[in-house]
Amino acid sequence: MKIVASAPGKVTLYGEHAVVYKKPAIVASIDRRVTVSCEIRDDDRITIRALNLEIPGVILTYNKDGEIVLETDYGRVLSAVSYIREAISLVSEYTNEFKGADIKIESSMPVGAGLGTSAAVSVATIAAYSKAVGHELSKKEIASLAWETEKRVQGLASPMDSTISTFGGIIYIQPGENSFTHESLDIPVEMPLIIGYVKRKYKTKDMVALVKKYKEKYPEIIDPVIELIGKLVVEAKTALLKGDLIVAGELMNINHGLLDTLGVSSKELNDLVYVTRAFGAYGSKLSGAGGGGAMIALASKERLKEVSTAISISNGLPIDTVIGGPGLLYV
Ligand code: MEV
Repeated sequence: MKIVASAPGKVTLYGEHAVVYKKPAIVASIDRRVTVSCEIRDDDRITIRALNLEIPGVILTYNKDGEIVLETDYGRVLSAVSYIREAISLVSEYTNEFKGADIKIESSMPVGAGLGTSAAVSVATIAAYSKAVGHELSKKEIASLAWETEKRVQGLASPMDSTISTFGGIIYIQPGENSFTHESLDIPVEMPLIIGYVKRKYKTKDMVALVKKYKEKYPEIIDPVIELIGKLVVEAKTALLKGDLIVAGELMNINHGLLDTLGVSSKELNDLVYVTRAFGAYGSKLSGAGGGGAMIALASKERLKEVSTAISISNGLPIDTVIGGPGLLYV
């Protein structure tokens, strides 16, 4: 039987990077999704096709220790394949089922854009594969296996992307030592947002490693910056719950300045961040790991079109989005 699961990408409204160091963050699902279909095979092979994630066709297989290995040496392990391999491997360990499967993935988001594509791939793969082997896991179990997948691939990862992709909506997340809490935010006004995208040269893993390096080299400077991001997230939550988009925008601007201090912005992202403000956005910031990728601008409904044009004329790709839609779904 074929099982199909779909999970959304995300924009981080406030708090990326600091959330890796257990500060809170506010994150929203977007209406761009990853869909994974899974059919169990009667051998121990796992075939993966994900044309729009640049995976033309990869075959993995379980070895005698139950580890999933690449059957052919493809020279380099494509990054989305690493997430799929870890996701399936974790489900196999968790359910004690080691079955081959044919996996097909479609994504309506650019790969490596900072829109949470890897978390959406992990969440939808875990959901589809576990259900296909006969174990319907709870959302909590899926989110926690997806977080583990991100940690295994990236080395250091917060539960932010895996949680939003599983539960959807707009959430305030507070990581703890090995756990986390999250609450859904009921914002009383519409939040008109536009995403600007520029090509990204670095992986999330590289950007997280860069902040870690700075943190170790300049703890007296970088630790307070991370502390400040945590504080502004708490203020942003209050502003959003009141529907105060002016304050919400100003706090985005402050958040962007602090992310730039951490070294994760780029000239291309800064160009989009500043031009969108000049065209009347309430606020703007990079969104996600940075080093290129996505930025967001918050504007009034009337201004959104001009802000979108501003992104285009500054060599960015504007991506319209509606935030706060559903998380993981079986389709
Ligand atoms: C990436 O979308 C967000 C980061 O904060 C990394 C993480 O939370 O694991 C940069």
